[in-house]
Amino acid sequence: MPDLYAVFGHPVAHSKSPRIHAEFAAQTGQALHYEARLVPLPGFVDAVRQFVTEGGRGANVTVPFKEEAFRLCESPGNTLTPRARQAGAVNTLKFSPQGGILGDNTDGAGLVRDMETNLGFSLAGRRILLLGAGGAARGVLTPLLERQPSQLTIANRTAAKAKTLATAFAPLAACPLSGAGLEDLVGQAFDVLINATAASLENAALPLPAEIFAPGCLAYDLMYGKGETPFLRQARHTGAAHLADGLGMLVEQAAEAFLLWRGLRPDTHALLHRLRVEQTAG
Ligand code: ATR
Repeated sequence: MPDLYAVFGHPVAHSKSPRIHAEFAAQTGQALHYEARLVPLPGFVDAVRQFVTEGGRGANVTVPFKEEAFRLCESPGNTLTPRARQAGAVNTLKFSPQGGILGDNTDGAGLVRDMETNLGFSLAGRRILLLGAGGAARGVLTPLLERQPSQLTIANRTAAKAKTLATAFAPLAACPLSGAGLEDLVGQAFDVLINATAASLENAALPLPAEIFAPGCLAYDLMYGKGETPFLRQARHTGAAHLADGLGMLVEQAAEAFLLWRGLRPDTHALLHRLRVEQTAG
């Protein structure tokens, strides 16, 4: 019997994770079965318990259950990795044979790996702008700070939320870390601009001054899909040198979860290339 894994979400039918993990398993010769599980709202904890009784070894957690997964792993008998604790959210669960659950968050590591390894864009010494102050922004902050940027600014439609997030993460920052409103960005410029807002989901553009895209910058949208996101369109119109959507982050966070479960890091290069070709073909 192959080892059992799943992704829990609502909705989950369009998740690429079963395909990604099936390809990783084939590539590394690991005997595992990975499936998508639609979890009713509410019903997350029951779905996890049921999966464990079926012999589940590990799971990914997606929208809208990452915070609930965090609370589950905070409870007695379970464990959180330091990066999941800092993120306040869990996207990867590992079930131990003794009954405990380990909660990890591989999203930020996936983003950083995509930027640095796949796109060849080193973050050390760069001026980073993180747009958004919700769960997605919080989830990637620690790994970004660990790359030693020269500054990190969090900017959000609701400035107070950006300021609160900056204050909460200040003890982890070796560089200036500040929170601001989008209107405060006038006259500033950044080398790496990351859209972690939900605006692209609504197909909405953010009110961003053109000068924030410094020459040679990387504009990265955590969102991915068929067409160009409004944020990447804005970036392209200002002449931003490098544009990327979140497909690479998706594949890299999966590779990081696979490493946690199986002790092997799969090669992501060929799979990412194939997914890109399919994305472009629509
Ligand atoms: P997630 O878990 O995806 O981060 P979230 O916690 O609801 O979701 O956070 C959504 C983020 O997107 C917030 O930073 C939100 O800004 P506010 O804090 O001002 O609400 C931002 N956001 C969503 N829609 C937006 C839009 N149309 N324009 C600008 N920011 C938007």
